[in-house]
Amino acid sequence: MQSNNQIIRFGADYFPEQWPESVWEDDIRLMKQAGVNMVSLAIFSWALLQPDEQTFNFGWLDQIMDLLAGHEIDVCLGTSTAAQPNWLTRKHPDLLFVRENGLQVAPGSRQTFCVNSPVYRDALRKLVRALAEHYAGHSALKLWHINNEYANKNGMCFCRNCETAFQEWLRSRYETLDRLNDAWGTVFWGEKYFKWDEINAPRASSGARNGTKLLDYKRFISESIHGLYTEEVNIFRELTPHIPVTTNFEGDWNKFDHALFRENLDVVSWNSYPNPLDPKARYWAAMRHAMMRSLLGKPFMLMEQAPSQVDWYPVNVSKPPGLMRLWSYQAIAHGSDSVMFFQWRASRKGAEKYHSAMVPHYGEKSRIFSEIVQLGNELKKIREIAGTGIKSRIAILMDNDSWWTVDNPYGSGSKSLDNETFWAANGQPFPSVLIRYFDELQHYFNAFHSLNAAVDVIPAHYDFSKYDIVIAPLLHMVKPGFADAVETFVGSGGTFVATYLSGLVDEYVGVFPEGYPGPLKKVCGIAVEEFDPIQPGSGNRIIMNTGSNGFQKEYHCSVCCEVVHVTEANILACFGNHYYAGYPCITENRYGKGKAYYIATRPDEVFMRDFAKMLFREMCISVRDIPETVEHSIRSHNGQSYEFYLNHGCDEVTIRLPSGQYTDLLTGELCEGILKLEQLGVSILRRMKSNEK
Ligand code: GAL
Repeated sequence: MQSNNQIIRFGADYFPEQWPESVWEDDIRLMKQAGVNMVSLAIFSWALLQPDEQTFNFGWLDQIMDLLAGHEIDVCLGTSTAAQPNWLTRKHPDLLFVRENGLQVAPGSRQTFCVNSPVYRDALRKLVRALAEHYAGHSALKLWHINNEYANKNGMCFCRNCETAFQEWLRSRYETLDRLNDAWGTVFWGEKYFKWDEINAPRASSGARNGTKLLDYKRFISESIHGLYTEEVNIFRELTPHIPVTTNFEGDWNKFDHALFRENLDVVSWNSYPNPLDPKARYWAAMRHAMMRSLLGKPFMLMEQAPSQVDWYPVNVSKPPGLMRLWSYQAIAHGSDSVMFFQWRASRKGAEKYHSAMVPHYGEKSRIFSEIVQLGNELKKIREIAGTGIKSRIAILMDNDSWWTVDNPYGSGSKSLDNETFWAANGQPFPSVLIRYFDELQHYFNAFHSLNAAVDVIPAHYDFSKYDIVIAPLLHMVKPGFADAVETFVGSGGTFVATYLSGLVDEYVGVFPEGYPGPLKKVCGIAVEEFDPIQPGSGNRIIMNTGSNGFQKEYHCSVCCEVVHVTEANILACFGNHYYAGYPCITENRYGKGKAYYIATRPDEVFMRDFAKMLFREMCISVRDIPETVEHSIRSHNGQSYEFYLNHGCDEVTIRLPSGQYTDLLTGELCEGILKLEQLGVSILRRMKSNEK
């Protein structure tokens, strides 16, 4: 995507169609002032581009594309397929998606279509083909922006059409009903199927539903979403093979498996909306940036963020001065080659008129616009960072199937403590509604990240052999081949960490008998007999056996405890309370040249940090001694490294730099020894090579 050699993309979703043409020239003037070099156009413009079935109207888009090209502002061109026109819906009302409760949505918002609707897909292909043919040679076009946030509102559809498509999907997956009945365990509650068309889409029922069927439905919908994306990509590969494609993700949505996109996505992009009220917002964003970077293992794009407040929380606080800048650099520090926003100019009408924008209602004299201008012009000074990478020795594994069996992304109130709501809406059996898959990943990520180690977050089926430390929190499902890969990894010197409620089920959500974590028992050297979820506010004690080794004598733990028996492993700590007091809580198993740890509970943050430090000592990963509010990361390429220091705190801090000379890219100054960072301050230091001195 690096058309202008090296460049950090800076811009926004731009909706010129919401404004009279007289405003467009002013937009260009302000964009130039702010250093905008790319805008996303036509994200929701299908109705304007195609006012009826026979007519395409690209006139207004040609005009604005030409205007932007004339001012050297590149275009990331949307395909507009996230909101179909009313004439299409009116003609084919069955394209509207059906919710889990069986009710069809009404038109009137965006993303109302069913992802499997043949008429929607047919119309989409015609539009996308027309767009590709029309703009293939346009000099402003640098990237296709396919759809917008797949599954934001309409991921899961339960309409009759999806039901039939699901039956077909099942036929090709299981081939015979005997296999399906066996895999789903339909002997339970007399669910046995005798014909394929007896299988309904798993709409909300009287109570708990078949967990394997639900999981298969999520897999089917996930593949359907990817299939929908592929419809558009195929057209671009045929007509505009020279233009890369992206689609903007939402980071932590488990409505589809992001890894499916690995094969036919050129640039990963995502929309980052941390909540300024969240004291851990910095960690929230860091992990999602890492996840996006790790998907293709290369720089990604921050496609949207808010210049200040959003408009979808009950109370939408603004970002105080400096925070937008800091979080923009945080994205770059984690591998983004862009800082893009939703949106360019604040709307006057429509659902998002109180959402912040680069040009707020107050106009160019506003605080927000002046911060935008400062940032856009600063980014010109760090162009050389574009394309550089991040080297990580640690990976956290993320498994969509485990996520889907632990949480339900679709049922309303699915994790409510009210049992009736839970069973009616969710149906996915799990020992505690308090356990959330992504929270567990975040808990581990935070420990390593707080020590400023680079951490990748990769799909569990990716090759992890290049890492030194691999952590698989809450890996509820263990699929064929995974345990072998772990054994090879640990056997050749790697460190593997597994946690409670892992390895309980196989790929059909069938429980492994004779002890968890199932196929991981061998490498972990333990077997789990029981699990005991913990009530909110309650917990247990972790009593360390290890002498000091950097640990305190005792820590707190919560959420869930297990009754563990060791077969081969050493016991590092035991539980302090309850009927399993004295039973193992943390174990370590030497296996070949490496080690596998098992953590039979959710330890507190203090333990997590001490544990991470111990692993770092073992693997000779050095930890920088810098103030806690400072985030540090390194991007590098061909021996040239760039060190990011980001102060998330409210006080000035002093950082001792490793020996060597540096150039501060933002100030142009040379620095050595000590770095001072004001509150919310940012420094990006290029280490000078010895021959530069
Ligand atoms: C995103 C969406 C944008 C806009 C934004 C507001 O999720 O892609 O179109 O709605 O949220 O925060």
